[in-house]
Amino acid sequence: MVTEAGSATQHAGKKVVLLDCDPGIDDAMAIVDLLARRAFGEIDIAGLIATAGNASVDDCVSSALSWLELGERTDRDRECSRADQTPVFKGAAGPIEVAHDFTPETHGEHGRGYAPLARTEGTASSMHGARAWSELSIRHEGELHAVVIGPLSTLAAALDLDGGIPDRLASLTIMGGTFCGHPGNTTAVAEWNSHFDPEAAQRVCERFAGSAVVPRWCGQNVTDSAVISPADVTEVLSATRGAPVTRALAAALRFYFEFHDAVGEGYCAKVHDPIATALALQPALGRWSPARIDVATSDRLTRGQTVAEFQPERWRGGDYGSGRRNADILVEVPGHPGVDNILADWKARHVRWVRG
Ligand code: RIB
Ligand code: CA
Repeated sequence: MVTEAGSATQHAGKKVVLLDCDPGIDDAMAIVDLLARRAFGEIDIAGLIATAGNASVDDCVSSALSWLELGERTDRDRECSRADQTPVFKGAAGPIEVAHDFTPETHGEHGRGYAPLARTEGTASSMHGARAWSELSIRHEGELHAVVIGPLSTLAAALDLDGGIPDRLASLTIMGGTFCGHPGNTTAVAEWNSHFDPEAAQRVCERFAGSAVVPRWCGQNVTDSAVISPADVTEVLSATRGAPVTRALAAALRFYFEFHDAVGEGYCAKVHDPIATALALQPALGRWSPARIDVATSDRLTRGQTVAEFQPERWRGGDYGSGRRNADILVEVPGHPGVDNILADWKARHVRWVRG
């Protein structure tokens, strides 16, 4: 049984969040944003699941523990009641069917860029992340808002373990895929999370087909416009007077700026994950379209491509998947400057949290 603090009734009225991540630099921005929201009483966090992706699963566990420890130190510094200990669960060590290829040039060898994250005394739960998906969905039945901002490997394993997970969730939001003809960041047609483990992504698509909870997919077609700049980091660093958590994020982002510059995107960073977590908690910020997603797995050229049929009923019973709706796809964040507003909110919330 999960021993995370807080009973279901203690969460009354708040969204309870489960984050499955592969920290990762933009994952770190999402983690600290959830800590800020918890400090303001907006949410509770049922747990973090670390899944291999941007770094090895052990490095992802270690980074998750370190970012949480930095967050708890921030909470103590602002004399906020000591946040509940957030359990961290070790998830899948790689894709469910193929070997994994890490890309250390993107987030750094350990997924932290230049952030000097100290090793923590904290340790991961002895419960595997796949079991944690099941246990937490039971413990928080009907109130658990699950967010996946890395490969879908652990969730796919969890669905094999417990087919009842989809109908127990309050919501599922996935940062992954790319839609509406927007090019991938890993191949011409595939986004990184779905390319890392296409079989897992397809298994999630199949298992959620027709379920009461329709997964929300935040794809690169929208999150690519979430660009943070060195000026944003300077602004937040100065507003927080160089707080430890902000300094660590700044060091992580510096690495990410160098990576984006090296691949011709300019000295800035596309930060996908904090957009997905913000939309998970405030879906009304986005415009979503119902669809049927299937993920290409068999062909080398298209592996990881998220193929979306926006009129799935056309194919019911056809050879195109089962034709049943299994997704709401983010098509835009309306208003100008849309996604930039979400990033501006992230900065303001971070400063308010750190400054107390
Ligand atoms: O394609 C972007 C996604 O891949 C983000 O979640 C990033 O952290 C990497 O995991
Ligand atoms: Ca990620």
